[in-house]
Amino acid sequence: MLAMTYLGPSRVKAVQKPEPRLEHPNDVVLRVTRAAICGSDLHLYHGLIPDTRVGSTFGHEFVGVVEEVGSSVQTLKRGDRIAVPFNISCGSCFFCDRELYANCENTNPSAPVASGVYGYSHTTGGFDGGQAEFVRVPFADIGPMKIPDDMSDEDVLFLTDIFPTGYQAAEMGSIAPGDTVVVFGSGPVGLFAAKSAWLMGAGRVIVVDNQEYRLEKARQFSGSETINFDEVDDIVKEIIRETDGRGADVCIDAVGCEASGSMMQKFTGVVMKMQAGAATAIGWCIQSVRKAGHVSIVGVYGPPWNFIPIGVAMNKGITMRMNQCNVKRYMPHLLEHVRQGRVDPKAIITHRLPLEEVHEGYEIFARKKDNCIKTVLVPPSARV
Ligand SMILES: NC(=O)c1ccc[n+]([C@@H]2O[C@H](COP(=O)([O-])OP(=O)(O)OC[C@H]3O[C@@H](n4cnc5c(N)ncnc54)[C@H](O)[C@@H]3O)[C@@H](O)[C@H]2O)c1
Ligand SMILES: [Zn+2]
Ligand SMILES: [Zn+2]
Repeated sequence: MLAMTYLGPSRVKAVQKPEPRLEHPNDVVLRVTRAAICGSDLHLYHGLIPDTRVGSTFGHEFVGVVEEVGSSVQTLKRGDRIAVPFNISCGSCFFCDRELYANCENTNPSAPVASGVYGYSHTTGGFDGGQAEFVRVPFADIGPMKIPDDMSDEDVLFLTDIFPTGYQAAEMGSIAPGDTVVVFGSGPVGLFAAKSAWLMGAGRVIVVDNQEYRLEKARQFSGSETINFDEVDDIVKEIIRETDGRGADVCIDAVGCEASGSMMQKFTGVVMKMQAGAATAIGWCIQSVRKAGHVSIVGVYGPPWNFIPIGVAMNKGITMRMNQCNVKRYMPHLLEHVRQGRVDPKAIITHRLPLEEVHEGYEIFARKKDNCIKTVLVPPSARV
């Protein structure tokens, strides 16, 4: 089959690989019909995630049609259309019982921090991902959600990751009615965080980035105010000035470890790798939130540690929450938001490319070429 393959930093290609097989009675093999490229894939692509092996296939946002079914699978049959959360979770451990699917302790024996994730290095279990014609889906009775007949693949594709992630980011901010919420990052995750902040009763939502075309999208898609951090002297002072000198009630980091905006952070985190990426956005969140406010982090940082101003956070009495998204927990609820027309996730797609052109897809998304916000890959069988 054709599958995206990692060849080393900034080098990926669609090549022929053996098709995945059922390896366990609770697996299904899925024929992929749509797979997206996520901001998290860029961290892999840029060689920032440990143990990203040459030859592996990325892709943790995908939907498709069940092709083969393991003998103990109860809930799926051949031909079912399903959306698959990016977390691989067992459904029955201490963490899954608490709906903390991202922290499942049975699907990633290689690390104590996170569950298995499709296509996300051997640090999260070494599972091949869905930027391919076929993908193996373990614990198939647990994660996947059937796609309603009246909904298209692209209506639900982002329920596998970025919409729930943005929603969880807003939820972890404990937004009270009327709160001012600042979202750092106007990428796909930031856009859904901003949209979700309104759904939770925010009074004001301000999105911060330095890519004007993405800020334009934030104004249009989420109806938020925006600030271009390159156009102000000091983004922290600007937010404090905008919020009666007190600071925002809630700040969300939807940027992660490749942040711009601080030479020191970029040099130590991205160039020298003395810390796990540039923690610029976390620092800005902590500095621009009000005392006793909430900071929510969904931007990805790798272990082991980063330079962040914890003393400022402590003395301000900030509540900080963070996690990988527990996708499955949010899928049914967010499906209703899509069905009711309150959110149209596919509206953020700017590029659709054949799987064969995956190298081009990464290049366009990583370099923000051609006003790219979100790229979707279409395998050959989904084009006939
Ligand atoms: N926690 C989770 O479960 C989860 C799920 C999906 C994605 N993520 C992470 O969320 C982050 C965002 O994902 P995305 O797909 O939107 O990525 P993206 O790379 O498309 O978007 C990031 C945006 O941040 C902007 N930016 C850079 N530095 C900034 C700064 N200092 N302040 C404000 N904006 C800045 C960039 O210009 C870009 O528009 C990534 O780190 C990704 O790995 C986490
Ligand atoms: Zn992702
Ligand atoms: Zn579990």
